[in-house]
Amino acid sequence: MAVEQVFHMNGGVGETSYANNSSVQKKVMMRARTILEESINKMFCTNLPTCLKVADLACSSGPDALLVASNIIDIVNETSLRLKVETPTFQFFLSDLFGNDFNAIFKSLPEFYHTLKQDTRCLINATPGTFYGSLFPSNSIHFFHSSFSLH
Ligand SMILES: C[S@@+](CC[C@H](N)C(=O)[O-])C[C@H]1O[C@@H](n2cnc3c(N)ncnc32)[C@H](O)[C@@H]1O
Repeated sequence: MAVEQVFHMNGGVGETSYANNSSVQKKVMMRARTILEESINKMFCTNLPTCLKVADLACSSGPDALLVASNIIDIVNETSLRLKVETPTFQFFLSDLFGNDFNAIFKSLPEFYHTLKQDTRCLINATPGTFYGSLFPSNSIHFFHSSFSLH
């Protein structure tokens, strides 16, 4: 069987889960926030859709998967306020290999939605598959993010 069909991080929230063993990856993501801000600001100059479609390639499971979404929402909200433009609706496509524990992400969604500001409209979708293949229709994603996924 092809590696992409069986490879996955440890699911769930137990002691050996990816969720509980990814603090280095979280630090990397926090350090890269400036690059994220610069990229989003550049995107604002050329394109500001009413529904911002974002894909996170190799999202894995656990808190990092939704940290990407909250960082992007915060940056876009701050920039929209500064530029006095309306904040878009957010649609996130969390993507990883077929064996990824997407269910663990789904279970944490109610809590995640609860943390968002009341006027933030955000939809989360899952897109299983390899980033070496075709994941989305042409020209359907405004912003791609991926962290700690090429080794
Ligand atoms: C170290 S984790 C990083 C997860 C997350 N981005 C983070 O920063 O915590 C690497 C992830 O890449 C995924 N991955 C590896 N090869 C992939 C591929 N070809 N397509 C999609 N995801 C892949 C793995 O399944 C794993 O979840």
